[in-house]
Amino acid sequence: MRVREIRLKRYPDGVPKESDFELAEREVPDPGAGQLCLRPLFLSIDPYQRNRMRGPAAGLTPGQVIEGRCVAQVIDSRHPDFAAGELVFTTAPWAEASLSDGKAVQRLDPEVMPPQLHLGAAGVPGLTAFVGLHDIGEMKPGETVLVSAAAGAVGSMACQIAKLAGCRVIGTVGSAQKVRWLLDEVGIDAAIDYSKEPDLTAALRRVCPDGADLVFECVGGKHLEAGLAVLKPHRRVVLCGVMAGMNGQPAGPSNLDQVIAKRVDIKGFVVGDHMARMSAFLAEVKHWLADGALHWHETVIDGIENTPKAFIGLFQGQNLGKMLVRVAGPRASP
Ligand SMILES: NC(=O)c1ccc[n+]([C@@H]2O[C@H](COP(=O)([O-])OP(=O)(O)OC[C@H]3O[C@@H](n4cnc5c(N)ncnc54)[C@H](OP(=O)(O)O)[C@@H]3O)[C@@H](O)[C@H]2O)c1
Repeated sequence: MRVREIRLKRYPDGVPKESDFELAEREVPDPGAGQLCLRPLFLSIDPYQRNRMRGPAAGLTPGQVIEGRCVAQVIDSRHPDFAAGELVFTTAPWAEASLSDGKAVQRLDPEVMPPQLHLGAAGVPGLTAFVGLHDIGEMKPGETVLVSAAAGAVGSMACQIAKLAGCRVIGTVGSAQKVRWLLDEVGIDAAIDYSKEPDLTAALRRVCPDGADLVFECVGGKHLEAGLAVLKPHRRVVLCGVMAGMNGQPAGPSNLDQVIAKRVDIKGFVVGDHMARMSAFLAEVKHWLADGALHWHETVIDGIENTPKAFIGLFQGQNLGKMLVRVAGPRASP
């Protein structure tokens, strides 16, 4: 079978451009004994993939196909544990189909939740928010929590998890549409469109006059600077990500001295170290789904050929909720 795939063409300089990627074709043979052929339905588009494009030591080299998490359908199987037609979660190439040996392939039950939720709200992004707030940030009911990139995959789950834990939640985002979604649907307490605010610290002080207890930081730079400025003394920052610094801009705040003056406890973490918490997290997700308490949004871009566009869009704030590429629809007979 001839399939299209996305390869890295050159290491991006700054924000990735479409010309840093190439759409190529490859022959995928029939599966051999113990193999299955997977057709991705949805590809997960994630910021960490930018880190793998930093140079030869970072994971990807030009000419290589890019890989990421996906939800896929088994379209052919010579593996004893998987049958054609089943839906699975795995890591696979950004390609229209590929072979797998079945390792790290997890069967999904579409009756429990829409399968692509395993890439966003009920997947690693949701787990990141859960672990970051509960285990790393030791969030307590009644606290005021600041979340940056608050309408993104991780941020929107952080907002909800903090609200469900009885916190006051303030989010910063890059558009009026994202502010409206967070206030009207997700139900957080205040949201700021930083693109309209020349002074983010002043804007945060308006909605958070008594200061914040916990900063859940996804952006860094000016966002972390404003978070540190409004943080109460002896409080915490969970450093989840630095979107602002991923493409060469400063990731650090200019007021690092505030960490000393306020005795701030600032902790980074990598969700991969906490995968054992997935079952506890999923148990909560199932309750939230049953209660109608879980809100999620997906920004879906169609077609494998548009995967670079979707990836670049992450750095331009084009996604509300989880950024996904829909490669194909599920078929009754694969
Ligand atoms: N520590 C971990 O283990 C771990 C695991 C997963 C993810 N993360 C981190 O969590 C963060 C969010 O990831 P995600 O997958 O949920 O992505 P996302 O928030 O769904 O998408 C990225 C968002 O970041 C904002 N953004 C992009 N470039 C920006 C810039 N230069 N300045 C300010 N805001 C910018 C945009 O929202 P606006 O329009 O609101 O600006 C954009 O929509 C990332 O930093 C990621 O690296 C960490």
